Amino acid sequence: SQVQDMSKEKVAAAKNMAFAFDIDGVLAHGNEPIEEAKLALKMLNGDNELGIKIPYILLTNGGGKTEIARCEQLAGLLESPISTDQFIQSHTPMQALAEYYETVLVCGGEDFKVREVAETYGFKNVVHPKDILAWDPTVSPWGIFSEKDRENAKPRDFSKMKFDAILVFADSRDYATDFQIIMDLLLSENGKLLTRAKDPVASRIPIYFSQGDLVFPTNHKGPPRLTQGSFRIAIEAQYKALTGVELERVVYGKPERATYTYADEVLKNWMEQIHNENTLPQNVYMVGDNPQSDIIGGNMAKEGENDAHNPANFGVFENVLEAVKAAVRKELGQDFKLKWNPK
Ligand code: G3P
Ligand code: MG
Repeated sequence: SQVQDMSKEKVAAAKNMAFAFDIDGVLAHGNEPIEEAKLALKMLNGDNELGIKIPYILLTNGGGKTEIARCEQLAGLLESPISTDQFIQSHTPMQALAEYYETVLVCGGEDFKVREVAETYGFKNVVHPKDILAWDPTVSPWGIFSEKDRENAKPRDFSKMKFDAILVFADSRDYATDFQIIMDLLLSENGKLLTRAKDPVASRIPIYFSQGDLVFPTNHKGPPRLTQGSFRIAIEAQYKALTGVELERVVYGKPERATYTYADEVLKNWMEQIHNENTLPQNVYMVGDNPQSDIIGGNMAKEGENDAHNPANFGVFENVLEAVKAAVRKELGQDFKLKWNPK
């Protein structure tokens, strides 16, 4: 067979490469799959003339729902199985924080989905901004509070609760309320609502953002739209104006180093599932559409010695399928083709 015909060198080369794909703009546009991406994933999953599998992971700055829910949705869109073991969304690495914080304010995303995300991560007491609005609507004079919110909110006596940290998991759907409650907590005495700290720095609880992109591509006709990074900058500016001091904060996601380090671990474990070897392949191709996050991060994550082998800018391609074909051609020295002819 063709697999037997493949030289040992080619088999070794195939085992020494992998892909990390961005999602938005590379595999899909929102809920619309990119057709070439479906073919690229099928080929990498083994549906190619060489009969080889090439591992890939998905690395997205998106978020707002559980890993399981998002992988199921993507598998449907892209017509390939997607395991949570090969998937990292912006807030995935933030599960490590559950060891340090018990009561957290979790912001962003549709409905109350981030509550389930945080609970899955192991946070013991998860509060959504709408829970606070349900307790006392005067907290946010211009806040949005629907009937559906009333059904799903979990009001408690928040005058007694002490928050340990603020976690922003996705884009705010109610900027007025999220700004207000985040600022209330940042300015509070040790994370207690209705208080104001004398020293804003000493008693401030920490704030974490799941990613830093300022804008993102959407189906809007004009330029890209504002996203979480712009929301964070507004928080920083409010805090600075109100206190006179800079807000210290932590940002996850691409291009942050911590996210790529986390991705290395995920890829190593995924290599074990695909090739039975728990080692990081030498040549990992990050395919992204956002130079500010995907490409900067990919380049920073590379080891010095890999540079000559896997240059910073491998290329700019029309779509992900062309990028995959070019990378495989470079590594294996031969064309990468589907086993069957697509329509
Ligand atoms: O910035 C928001 C998000 O849509 C970006 O997703 O997959 O391109 O990292 P992605
Ligand atoms: Mg993208």
